[in-house]
Amino acid sequence: MATDPVRWGILGTANIARASFLPGLRAAGGSAYAVAGRDPARTAAYAAEQQIERVFSDYEALIADPRVEAVYVPLPNSLHLTWAVKALEAKKPVLCEKPLGLDAAQVEAMTAASARTGVPLWEAFVFMFRPHFETVSGWIRDGAIGPIREVDSRFSFRLRHTANIRLRPELGGGALYDVGCYPVHLASLLFGEPGDAAAVLVVRHTGGVDETISGSVAFGARRLLFSASLNGPSDTFTRIQGENGAITMTNPFHPGDGDQITLTRGPEGETTVVSAGDHLPSFAAHIAHIGRVVRGEEAPCLTAAETSAATSVTLDVIRRAGGLS
Ligand SMILES: NC(=O)c1ccc[n+]([C@@H]2O[C@H](COP(=O)([O-])OP(=O)(O)OC[C@H]3O[C@@H](n4cnc5c(N)ncnc54)[C@H](OP(=O)(O)O)[C@@H]3O)[C@@H](O)[C@H]2O)c1
Repeated sequence: MATDPVRWGILGTANIARASFLPGLRAAGGSAYAVAGRDPARTAAYAAEQQIERVFSDYEALIADPRVEAVYVPLPNSLHLTWAVKALEAKKPVLCEKPLGLDAAQVEAMTAASARTGVPLWEAFVFMFRPHFETVSGWIRDGAIGPIREVDSRFSFRLRHTANIRLRPELGGGALYDVGCYPVHLASLLFGEPGDAAAVLVVRHTGGVDETISGSVAFGARRLLFSASLNGPSDTFTRIQGENGAITMTNPFHPGDGDQITLTRGPEGETTVVSAGDHLPSFAAHIAHIGRVVRGEEAPCLTAAETSAATSVTLDVIRRAGGLS
């Protein structure tokens, strides 16, 4: 994002914006121009802390500001549809947090809004833009492990605070939406189609959301084995098993400098180990891409229109199998 930084607006004083989006934006050379929040004092304090120029006390006003060139939507999952569509209709490209919508119908409405307005929309699966995933995709494209048969992927962590959007069913809480969507997105991307059947085990939190969810999903003759938890050890291991080899990733979705990707192939199990970190904040590459698109320097790629539908259908299959819908 070279000479003229793209001016971003952020909807909500979200933790993820502070922890990940803003460091990524700074690394990508973008401008943290505006934030909107429901509580004026909290929003002003957030803006001061993060050196954000403009403060709005409602989301509509931020979207309407002509100086805002792109909008980041890190709202609770149940609000993604409404606010992403409003921003698209105001002709602002949108980076919306995952999961894009609560079901396939919502995701379809969002990608339809993007198509209707001609404005790109991305779901914030930022791993898709990072070098480690390009390496993995290249190995697969080159046939290093042969046709993929199985993806085994886990994402869990221990939620320490009970006052959290992840524990609120009406806001789209639960382990599947929060972290289970990552293995599902990875498998749907790699298999190039949605899953068609699932066997699922759900442990519910007292508040009603799925606290832990695990199972297997069929993609024709291929499968995803997944688990996700808001009450487990921090773990994001993934193994992609092909007919002739396998790829493992110690941290597939937000790798740091100590993480590795490993390719094992051939009858002798020949192994190649590559560092997965790129010394940059996790969001930087995705935000940099959007900046180049806004400046007309690059065509949009890996948009929601291309990558989110199969994920949303697979999530629906899992939710039905787990009695979550
Ligand atoms: N891609 C990733 O790596 C990643 C990581 C973590 C989370 N996420 C996603 O980011 C989104 C936000 O997660 P978070 O952990 O940052 O949540 P959070 O800190 O609770 O932020 C959500 C924000 O939404 C606003 N909001 C509007 N209506 C709300 C309501 N009824 N209840 C609560 N908040 C409301 C609040 O801002 P105001 O009150 O200021 O308006 C709040 O700060 C989720 O979709 C989550 O899945 C993505």
